[in-house]
Amino acid sequence: MESYVNNSDFFKGNNPEDLVAQYGSPLYVYNEEILRTHMDAVAKVITKYPYTANYSIKANSNLHILKLALEEGNNCDAMGIGEMSMLLAAGFPTDRIFFVSNNVSAEELQFAIDHNIMTSLDSLCQLELFGTLNPGGKCAVRINPGVGAGHHDKVITAGKKTKFGIAEEDIDQIFEIAKKYNLTIAGINQHIGSLFMDPEPYLKAVTNLLRIAMRFENLEFIDFGGGYGIPYHKLDDEAEYNMEDFKKRLEPILDKFVEEYGSAPLFKSEPGRYCVAEGCVILGRVQSVKQNAGKKYVGTDIGMNVLVRPSMYDSWHDVEVLRDGKVVPRTDLEEVTVTGNICESGDLLAKDRMLPKMQRGDLACVLDAGAYGYSMASPYNSRPRPAEVMIQKDGSVKLIRRRETVEDLLRYMQEV
Ligand SMILES: Cc1ncc(COP(=O)(O)O)c(C=O)c1O
Repeated sequence: MESYVNNSDFFKGNNPEDLVAQYGSPLYVYNEEILRTHMDAVAKVITKYPYTANYSIKANSNLHILKLALEEGNNCDAMGIGEMSMLLAAGFPTDRIFFVSNNVSAEELQFAIDHNIMTSLDSLCQLELFGTLNPGGKCAVRINPGVGAGHHDKVITAGKKTKFGIAEEDIDQIFEIAKKYNLTIAGINQHIGSLFMDPEPYLKAVTNLLRIAMRFENLEFIDFGGGYGIPYHKLDDEAEYNMEDFKKRLEPILDKFVEEYGSAPLFKSEPGRYCVAEGCVILGRVQSVKQNAGKKYVGTDIGMNVLVRPSMYDSWHDVEVLRDGKVVPRTDLEEVTVTGNICESGDLLAKDRMLPKMQRGDLACVLDAGAYGYSMASPYNSRPRPAEVMIQKDGSVKLIRRRETVEDLLRYMQEV
């Protein structure tokens, strides 16, 4: 496609230059309609049996985005006290929150117990801790189904090389600990990794988890995890994750299980990226253009502090070039490396990329930035984090997080 922001009418008539003039650069810009469409789609992955999609808020925990998830009927998962607190602040009732814990403190478990938030334990050791804190209580356990998948080794969370989950061979010990503390294992969950476009490994993991589920009596829920991908190469016409095909292939696996198990527990999934990635772009100013050893570098203010994915995972984000608020057509292209303004040579946003010729003063518009964008941003180099705005359905612009200031950064320091 020539331009995602034009095709999707992303800015809904707002001039990106005006947005940056008002809220500063760089700027996270969300589109409410696109976010809602994706949240609605995940809520309908399973229609034949009781089902909820738990939006995984690590992808993006801005309260205004959580509010959309609440309104679209998504439940949510949380990784710790911080994320549980965000959900409570956004208005989620505790029975719509699932605490998918990993190596957490007794204090974090106690917070969930006190708030009556269903918690999944990720190891026998943590199950034992939960048992001591909450004898007679209810919980879930995270199973490693033996199959992993994802866009990078760092985000594959099942299979042989991972810290996550309880192995199938240890399941008898789950029952022993549960008996010791009179715990009810109400659910089992898994998450095999993040970002796959081929559903095959996920379906295999679902099949494995359901086979393992047969060993648990009276399960109230089974959670298959998240990971559905989005097309990061959309300007090169990469296809969307085929949700319809995925649903068709998932259903017979569930049918077989329900028949053998004798009842249908509540099925759950935990998508993060799919819900929020495509509903956001980052606008950032081109500050300089230069040649180094025959290579052309375009220096922007979108550093790895603003979007870490390219530096951390070598992730690809499409970039559009805006001049005077309009998309520059992709006709006269040249190879450039787009960088940020951080003092690291790994601060690369787009390496050796064919882009329209850029000049100082242009805006770089980074696509698909809504997942693991702001939520992984940092004040590295003491650069305050950017503002976030949402283009609402009616085209009006809402500030959903103000720009951080240097005063904010100084606030937590003790006096010198
Ligand atoms: C336990 C768990 N659930 C869900 C997710 C969401 O994954 P994704 O954003 O790829 O859908 C993650 C991501 O790391 C996770 O660790």
